[in-house]
Amino acid sequence: MAKQIATNVTWQSGEISREDRYQILRQKGITIWFTGLSGSGKSTIAVAVEKALFAMGKLSYRLDGDNVRLGINKNLGFSEADRKENIRRIGEIAKLFGDAGVISLSSFISPYKSDRDEVRALHEAANLQFVEVYVDCALSVAEERDPKGLYKKARAGEIKNFTGIDDPYEAPVKAEIHLRTDEMSLEEEVAIIIDYLVANEVIRPENYSRASDKAAGSATAN
Ligand code: ADX
Repeated sequence: MAKQIATNVTWQSGEISREDRYQILRQKGITIWFTGLSGSGKSTIAVAVEKALFAMGKLSYRLDGDNVRLGINKNLGFSEADRKENIRRIGEIAKLFGDAGVISLSSFISPYKSDRDEVRALHEAANLQFVEVYVDCALSVAEERDPKGLYKKARAGEIKNFTGIDDPYEAPVKAEIHLRTDEMSLEEEVAIIIDYLVANEVIRPENYSRASDKAAGSATAN
């Protein structure tokens, strides 16, 4: 856990609750955490899930390793300490998004189990749902795909500390969802995520109306 440095700071509450926000969005906030090797398919799945949710009128937002490292985490590299701080910051951001009512789709290699467990604990302490999705793909397949040509560079020694080559990846042991991207289709993977959201009442794709809508006798809105 990161050390609290500032003193004399206390949480400031507003007058609109998390449940109020969930009601206007007609969904619950949740963090879907995709973890896996570079090239395993994390970002591809997140993009497809975002599209499927948008078509259902549901708000999601992608937090992606490359994007975040171009912005808030531009001062971090790939040492163990920097990866840890990368994941800690994203975990905190995802937690805020969940509190806001957004379905966050977080795609980070997040190679260390302890870092992912800390993000899980952070969500549990805040009573927010956290779903770890193991985007599992054989290293040989990820290396074959090599969408950014980075494995080639890592093999040539041009990139150091590359996950799977000369840096570790600790596979999840208790992921809620396990996707084998070298065996499943993208459509199947998206369906598994959407089914999970429906089963856990994060979204109600049909016949979902706010209590206030019902009281006012208005038509069911989705
Ligand atoms: S994490 O390990 O801290 O979770 P993150 O997902 O944010 O990593 O970033 C990984 C992305 O950074 C990869 O998809 C790849 O494009 C790029 N990258 C650049 N150098 C490395 C490296 N040494 N190891 C892994 N990914 C790297």
